[in-house]
Formats: sequence, structure tokens, C-alpha cells
Amino acid sequence: MIFVTGGAGFIGANFVLDWLAQGDEGVVNFDKLTYAGNVNNLAALQDDPRHVFVRGDIGDGEHVLALLREHQPRAIVHFAAESHVDRSIHGPAEFIATNINGTFALLEAARAYWSALDAAGKAAFRFLHVSTDEVYGTLGPDDAPFTETTAYAPNSPYSASKAASDHLVRSYHHTYGLPTLTTNCSNNYGPYQFPEKLIPLILANAQAGKPLPIYGDGRQVRDWLYVADHCAAARRVLDAGVPGETYNVGGWNEMTNLDVVHTLCDILDSLQPKADGGSYRSQIAYVQDRPGHDRRYAIDARKLERELGWRPAETFETGIRKTVQWYLDHPDWVADVQSGAYARWVETNYVHRGDVR
Ligand code: NAD
Ligand code: DAU
Repeated sequence: MIFVTGGAGFIGANFVLDWLAQGDEGVVNFDKLTYAGNVNNLAALQDDPRHVFVRGDIGDGEHVLALLREHQPRAIVHFAAESHVDRSIHGPAEFIATNINGTFALLEAARAYWSALDAAGKAAFRFLHVSTDEVYGTLGPDDAPFTETTAYAPNSPYSASKAASDHLVRSYHHTYGLPTLTTNCSNNYGPYQFPEKLIPLILANAQAGKPLPIYGDGRQVRDWLYVADHCAAARRVLDAGVPGETYNVGGWNEMTNLDVVHTLCDILDSLQPKADGGSYRSQIAYVQDRPGHDRRYAIDARKLERELGWRPAETFETGIRKTVQWYLDHPDWVADVQSGAYARWVETNYVHRGDVR
């Protein structure tokens, strides 16, 4: 049995679905179901006895500890977080509460559970902390990609809160010997991503005939990784990672935001042509930039490849086609998550950026 936090969110749900598709070991899926958590993502597991879903907050250490004692997992895989940079700019408090204090409470519960295991259980236990490349800050155009030894320099409340959680995890290994592992991954894309993030937002707006908002000049660079490749990396690190180590995860696929949006428009043009015969590119709208916007992220994932033999299976070309097709095939999923709360977020985030709704 493993204990997954945040398993109703984008990456967590993909991870749980992949995990149960690959083996028989069960999952306790612990998720608060914030705006970003969606039980529909787990609909395929409704009658699966290997999947135990529990609604709860990682900040509630007593709840977590009781579940750990009840289910006796051999590992915790920690995805739960507030994850959207723009939301952290509008309201950082939730990011401090969940990403820092929540991770602290989870670590305390893990430590109490782990300390009571016998020697074999202690040695086998793992706490895998899923983090981000954003903790390293921003790169210039000619800088080398981030490695595991790049100094932390987080620039947004989101990345600062993730950096703080990474440091806590590190300290629990160093001080208490808790067998922790940390992964720092680049931008994920794929099925079940909430349409506040660039790729699903552009796909949803394109189909709705709405503007496609590009922050600033659109020349910011991100490294993109298909979500199933991130899930495979997490499984590999859980299996073979060395406690106390951190591993960068990336797709070797740097692209400007503008190139990503052009690619999405071109795929949509071929799969679902606009009624007027024009291109979706005509909907692109340049809007006010994100405050403190990091210019470039790039990940050097050679340690994970060299030491654990992981490489991404998808290229951006194959992964993005699958992704666009998934969103075209699941209009109900998109409609469902575009709830009242989502509509209010669009008002908050985009209204001042140039009236893009
Ligand atoms: P998401 O926002 O889609 O999902 C987060 C999940 O965590 C949701 O199901 C939510 O309900 C749950 N959650 C939030 N607060 C909680 C709390 N206090 N207690 C329990 N559950 C809570 O996020 P995501 O994009 O799937 O990201 C998952 C993890 O991966 C995060 O830690 C994020 O920092 C990291 N990460 C994301 C990316 C990316 O591109 N999305 C890249 C690298 C790392
Ligand atoms: O790098 C990993 C990180 O990737 C994760 O840790 C975060 O959880 C995840 O949200 C993501 O952060 P980004 O800020 O890079 O992702 P987002 O999809 O919000 O934005 C991608 C880029 O696109 C970024 O440069 C901002 C830009 N953008 C975004 C939106 C939502 C736009 O130009 N227009 C938009 O409307």
C-alpha cells in the first residue's frame, strides 16, 4: 500500500491511474478537494477496491497519522499543493498554509509513523516529495539548465513556498534520518489539467471563440514534459532513488509560450477547423505580463537518466497531439470544471490584463 497526497489533482490523478494500471499495490488517496481536486478524474476507479479515497487536509496531522497507522503504507508520495503561480500572486496565504505548513504537518505525521516501524519497515519506507523546477528561479538565454546543485532562488510566492517545503524535507532526512526523496520537475501537460494553466486554458478558449491570452511578449521559455513521463519518473525514483537525494525531471524540450500556443492553434486547425475557415491563431491576444514573471526554465535531467535509467517516452510532438485529442474527446470534463469558482478566477486574473475573459 502507498499513501498519495493530492491524488485528485492533475498529476496526482494521472499518477494514481498509472500506478493501478501497472500493478496491484493499493493506494490511499488523500486529497482536500480544493478547486483543483476533482473526483471525476478518478471515475475509472470507482469500484476498484485497491483505491481508498479519503477527503482531508495535509495540515491535519492527526488525521494523516491515524490513516498511516491504519493502512501501514510503505511509502508516501506527496503531490498535494497549491500549484498555480498566478493564484499565488493574488492570494499567497493558501500557498503558505498548504505548501509550507501542510508539508510540515505531513512530515511530522510521517516521522511519528516511521519511528514506530521495525528496522526492516524503517529501512524500506520512502517519503517522495514532488517539487518543481521553479525553486531554482530564472535563467538567462545562454545559461546552462538547472542541475540538482543549482542554488535555490525562488521568485514567486508559489515557488518560495515550494522551496521552503523542499528545505523542510531535506532537513527531515538530515536530522531525523527519514528516508526522503525529492523530484524537481518542469512544466507538465496532458489529460486532467485544470484549465487555469496555459495549455488547457488555450484549448478551452480557442474552442469557445475567446481570446488566447499571451502574457507580455510571449517569449518566456518553459521546458515541457508529458504527464505520464513525470509519473514514470516518480515511480522510478520511488523504486530506486537514494534517500536524501534530489532528482531533476525534464523533457529536454524548451519552447517559448508563443511557440506552444502556435502549435496548439495549428493542431486545432487540422483536427477541428474553425467554421469561418480561419486559423485559431487569429484569437491570440497579448495581455499584461505576470508580475515577477520568470523568463526561462530549463532542466538538466541527466542525473535521473544516468543513475536510474529514466528517459521521457514522449516527444513534445507526440505528447501534445495526444493531449489536444484528449481535450477534444472530453468536452464534458472541461465543462464540468469550469464551475462558478472557475469563472470567478477568470474575472480576478484576466480582467486587469486587458479585458480578456
Ligand atoms: P493541482 O493543483 O492540479 O492539484 C493539487 C491537488 O492537491 C488537488 O487535488 C488539491 O485538491 C490537492 N490539495 C491542495 N491542498 C491540499 C491540502 N491542504 N491537503 C490535501 N490535498 C490538497 O496540482 P498539480 O499540477 O497536479 O501538481 C501536483 C504537484 O506537482 C504539486 O506539488 C506541484 O507543485 C508539483 N509540480 C507541478 C508541475 C506542473 O506542471 N503542474 C510541475 C512540477 C511540479
Ligand atoms: O515549471 C513547473 C511549474 O509549471 C509548476 O511548478 C507549476 O505548478 C505549474 O503551474 C507550471 O507553472 P507555470 O507558471 O510555468 O505554468 P502556467 O501554465 O501558469 O504558465 C506557463 C507559461 O505561460 C508562463 O510563462 C505564463 C504563461 N501564460 C500562462 C497563462 C495561464 C500565459 O502567457 N497566458 C496565460 O493565460
